[in-house]
Amino acid sequence: MAEPMLIAKSEDFIYLLPRMANRHGLIAGATGTGKTVTLQALAEHFSRNGVPVFMADVKGDLSGMSRAGGGNAKVEERIAQLGVEDFGYAACPVVFWDVFGEKGHPVRTTVAEMGPLLLSRMLNLNEVQAGVLTAVFKIADDKGWLLLDLNDLRAMMQHASENGAEYTAKYGNIAAASVGAVQRALLQLEHEGADRLFGEPALDLDDMLQTDSKGRGVVNILASDRLYNSPRVYASLLLWLLSELFEKLPEVGDLDKPKLVFFFDEAHLLFNDVPNALMDKIEQVVRLIRSKGVGVYFISQNPLDIPDIVLGQLGNRVQHALRAFTPRDQKAVKSAAETFRTNPKVDVKTAITELGVGEALVSFLDEKGRPMPVERAFICPPGSRIGMATDAERNETMRSSLLYGHYEKTVDRESAYEILKAKAEETLKANEQAKAQAAASQSAKRTAAREPDTLLETVAKTAARTIGSELGRRVIRGVLGSILGGKK
Ligand SMILES: Nc1ncnc2c1ncn2[C@@H]1O[C@H](COP(=O)(O)OP(=O)(O)O)[C@@H](O)[C@H]1O
Ligand SMILES: [Mg+2]
Repeated sequence: MAEPMLIAKSEDFIYLLPRMANRHGLIAGATGTGKTVTLQALAEHFSRNGVPVFMADVKGDLSGMSRAGGGNAKVEERIAQLGVEDFGYAACPVVFWDVFGEKGHPVRTTVAEMGPLLLSRMLNLNEVQAGVLTAVFKIADDKGWLLLDLNDLRAMMQHASENGAEYTAKYGNIAAASVGAVQRALLQLEHEGADRLFGEPALDLDDMLQTDSKGRGVVNILASDRLYNSPRVYASLLLWLLSELFEKLPEVGDLDKPKLVFFFDEAHLLFNDVPNALMDKIEQVVRLIRSKGVGVYFISQNPLDIPDIVLGQLGNRVQHALRAFTPRDQKAVKSAAETFRTNPKVDVKTAITELGVGEALVSFLDEKGRPMPVERAFICPPGSRIGMATDAERNETMRSSLLYGHYEKTVDRESAYEILKAKAEETLKANEQAKAQAAASQSAKRTAAREPDTLLETVAKTAARTIGSELGRRVIRGVLGSILGGKK
């Protein structure tokens, strides 16, 4: 049985029950109030209980989890103050991941697995453009052409646009303007370096669900400092991970402890002007993933950033200090206060603006799944290092990982791009043959009698030339040009 996890202390110690940890959670508070340290402490407890965790590291300050703590005056002070007994400094079994492949093992997925809905979000497409993208996915699917990387998608877009007449009846209008917009958005994605997200080997989720030789859950840390500059890519990737977990994991109901806990830092990015269709999906995934044994914890500066329908599903709450300067701040304070189960000993509205660093209003679910009355409490610090790991330390962790070498090299197997390229090359060859034939018949005629061309022959030659030159070149420019041009 997983032990209750000691997270904080008010008059008494406050425990998070592993059995209730799949009922999701919220860590909120203004900048510098202790959210990241709270996340770290929670993650560490899960790991120690054999529960793997995943987190995106936006500032790089979670990388220190790979090292033992110590030598931090604030931590020592807090430990002494709280009288935590079996506290010890220890490193966590960290696995670093990085879409850009620099600060961790590369994280990749295929275009097909990302799917048109999330990809449209990532590319910031409007409804019509998203419709075209979806149609192109369907065409590729029906043809049996794989969409693995961005080259595949670009080639497919081009192909669909050039053969629009053939596809329109079955798949709907594939307007050139929409195709152009999608292609431009793909270029932008590439410009941001996010094209590296697509390809193979694709991430095997099982690699994130591991325990180490001591039975501790691995702590998966996705380097997100650079990714964070492309907020849509960041949010879509995390959402994809969630939905993959949802789709791949079996239904398990309520377990003794979660199978995985997923920390979603800077959660407001997920909900920034989300189209309704996607919002419905997010709400659904969050609601249903519980029964797959996955707990989701949102971290946010302002609880108002999270839609009510999602907020209502977050049972385990740590609310750090909020400022109350602006009317929006005041609204946040009010709404945060209203969502806690009241405790006559705590004046939530006043407390929330007074809390010190590493102090919070805490309410977890009890063994029956009811929120416990809110407590004003100090968070017990983690035993791993608070702050960054050095580059050397990070490299050392990466190289000693069992996964090292598996994701580091991309493979490029035959997919839509290669198929369409081969097709284009065939067309090119056919054109050249037609040209050669025309030339041969011409020279044969010349050697025979040097008679002037008959009208019929002239027409035939013109046609051959047209195929060989104009039409041919258009096909080549149209198909080969952009496909080949895109390949680095
Ligand atoms: N529970 C805690 N115990 C001891 N020190 C803490 C605690 N929480 C936060 N701190 C101190 O406050 C600093 C800022 O906390 P952090 O979690 O990074 O804030 P936030 O993520 O909300 O911006 C930490 O680097 C640490 O020194
Ligand atoms: Mg932080």
